[in-house]
Amino acid sequence: MAVAPPPSPPSVRGSFLLCVCQGGVEQPLIARQQAILPAFAPGAWRRGVVTFRIGPADFDPPDDFFPDLILAHTVIRSLGQVVGDARGPGSGGVSAAAIEGVLRLVEGGRFDAIHAWPRTARVADAKAADPDDGLPVAAVRAAVAMAAGIDPGSERMAAPARRGDLVLDIVLDAPERWWVGWHRVNAPPTSWPGGAYPGTLPAGAVSRAWLKLDEALTTFAVPLTPGERAIEFGASPGGACQRLLEAGLSVVGVDAAVVHEQVAGHPRFEQWRMRAREVPLARFRGCDWLLADMNIDPADTMAALGRVLEPGAARPKGVIATLKMPTWSRAAEIDGWLAAFRSWGYVPQARHLSTAGREICVVALRGRGGRGRGPRTV
Ligand SMILES: C[S@@+](CC[C@H](N)C(=O)[O-])C[C@H]1O[C@@H](n2cnc3c(N)ncnc32)[C@H](O)[C@@H]1O
Repeated sequence: MAVAPPPSPPSVRGSFLLCVCQGGVEQPLIARQQAILPAFAPGAWRRGVVTFRIGPADFDPPDDFFPDLILAHTVIRSLGQVVGDARGPGSGGVSAAAIEGVLRLVEGGRFDAIHAWPRTARVADAKAADPDDGLPVAAVRAAVAMAAGIDPGSERMAAPARRGDLVLDIVLDAPERWWVGWHRVNAPPTSWPGGAYPGTLPAGAVSRAWLKLDEALTTFAVPLTPGERAIEFGASPGGACQRLLEAGLSVVGVDAAVVHEQVAGHPRFEQWRMRAREVPLARFRGCDWLLADMNIDPADTMAALGRVLEPGAARPKGVIATLKMPTWSRAAEIDGWLAAFRSWGYVPQARHLSTAGREICVVALRGRGGRGRGPRTV
């Protein structure tokens, strides 16, 4: 049987990266780019979208497009913008001129999947309001697929993109004005259009933290195993603990505030009604997962974790920490926090989760053979 050749990226690979972020995160994202990719130059930006000119001119970035940017929900290689014209709609009410523009930009490149999403959607709210923000996202995706030779009704279009897939990206700025780009799927968030987590908050969840933790576990493929023991600093009202209980773990919630009865009454749940710093260190013995989700300064969250991890009072398999940003200017401290995790013997990965507000999530797994392994961020 003949094996189809792997899809090829467009021969014009594009000289800009286009990053999609939550509205309001544009400036800290630009600052982060300047810190970690100084040869890149900031390009045009709008709410929720930031572009960078790739530099130096002869540099061709790897296909994972810099996960170290952390504050970007997704990063694609931009091929440019297309705009419909007065010739009116083509198939399915979608501008024929814009579709022709897409085909011109991709220059015959073949794709496994099409992602389309609206620029303006605040991805954290995507499930609460109209996730398409009134834009014809589904119609555009179907019309682009048809033009690119993919059956819009096929299984390939219905299923999420898989690792290794080459994705054609369409970011809708207006019904007939789209950015066009591409990326290759290499981690769970890059299989979601716009990097927006497709999971939803279950009806019985006691807080949105359930969904945030669900996204973190999926994003970083966290290997929770039933029977393990987790301790969470900042547990009330209990959505994250609820998610851990559902995964079969025994859970301790550390918080002076009340935990929802649905969680508090669970036979595998226990609450220590105190502040994180008041927990005697001996109590951390046997802890497999340490979580923190406290509404305090990120430096204080780091101090609470360091109090346990620095002296080795516990050597959990992993740490899942929410670092809340009083302002996004604190994002300048991210690398210092990640270095602290490495100094404790952990390999940190970080991301501004699509379901989260002004905070970043760090998942740090215990490194093999001691301290100080290099960074890997999603
Ligand atoms: C965002 S809420 C946590 C949400 C929770 N993780 C959930 O799943 O529903 C922040 C919590 O941190 C707690 N908190 C603040 N400072 C703390 C500290 N020093 N030690 C323990 N908990 C603290 C607050 O009482 C509050 O309940």
